[in-house]
Amino acid sequence: MANENMTGIPVHVSMIMDGNGRWAKERGKERVYGHFEGVESVRACVEAAVETGVKYLSLYAFSEENWNRPQAEVDTLMGLMVKAMANEMPALDKNGVRFMVIGNRERLSNDLNEVIDSCMAQTASNNVLTLIIFLSYSGKWDILQAAKRMAVEMLENPEKADDLLDMDINGFDRFLATAGIPDPDLIVRTSGECRLSNYLLWQGAYSELLFVDTLWPDFRKEEFRKAVEYYSKRDRRYGKVK
Ligand code: FPP
Repeated sequence: MANENMTGIPVHVSMIMDGNGRWAKERGKERVYGHFEGVESVRACVEAAVETGVKYLSLYAFSEENWNRPQAEVDTLMGLMVKAMANEMPALDKNGVRFMVIGNRERLSNDLNEVIDSCMAQTASNNVLTLIIFLSYSGKWDILQAAKRMAVEMLENPEKADDLLDMDINGFDRFLATAGIPDPDLIVRTSGECRLSNYLLWQGAYSELLFVDTLWPDFRKEEFRKAVEYYSKRDRRYGKVK
């Protein structure tokens, strides 16, 4: 959803959580140890988002490409998601956090889908912060599924063909998996990598980008506040002249 935010506080902050494996390796531990520690950073960022007045916090937790990791790591990560969601839900709900998962859920296990459905239902009416976990997600997947949904709608309603020709950019938004969610004002990637890795390709068209060297397990409240401060100093023009 288009979002021309001109205020100092970002409405929607999105994080590409990267560097868990390296963080663990630096300590002579298995990669999964970095993922466990990464959950602590998730909790810290949720708290910091609430404290700074950010309304949407989204996290790139697992990409479509991540399915190609060794099966043992994929299994550990999926198990970690189930546990983390179940454990954190009472506190999230108590603090008014609405929980959402966006991505290709057909690829997720029944266990995981069940816990996601229950967490989403339990927190649906909360409005302090919306926490979105992008799981089995990629930007190209999203654009393609949106195009397919649009094509099906047109095939089923040929009389609407003129509406399709008249459709503008905002009209296409409703087919995306993120329909109704403001586009991210700020996308932060940790661990020194400077790329989007197939994340929010449509929605991130005007996002401010911040690449920090901090590895995700070390990205806590102070780093989150610094990212918001960085954003508040940006001059956003959306292609216009001020
Ligand atoms: C990237 O680090 C991190 C991931 C692919 C997984 C992140 C997931 C979590 C922290 C769990 C989140 C849980 C919930 C409920 C949201 P990497 O493994 O690519 O690190 P590397 O680049 O150092 O190898």
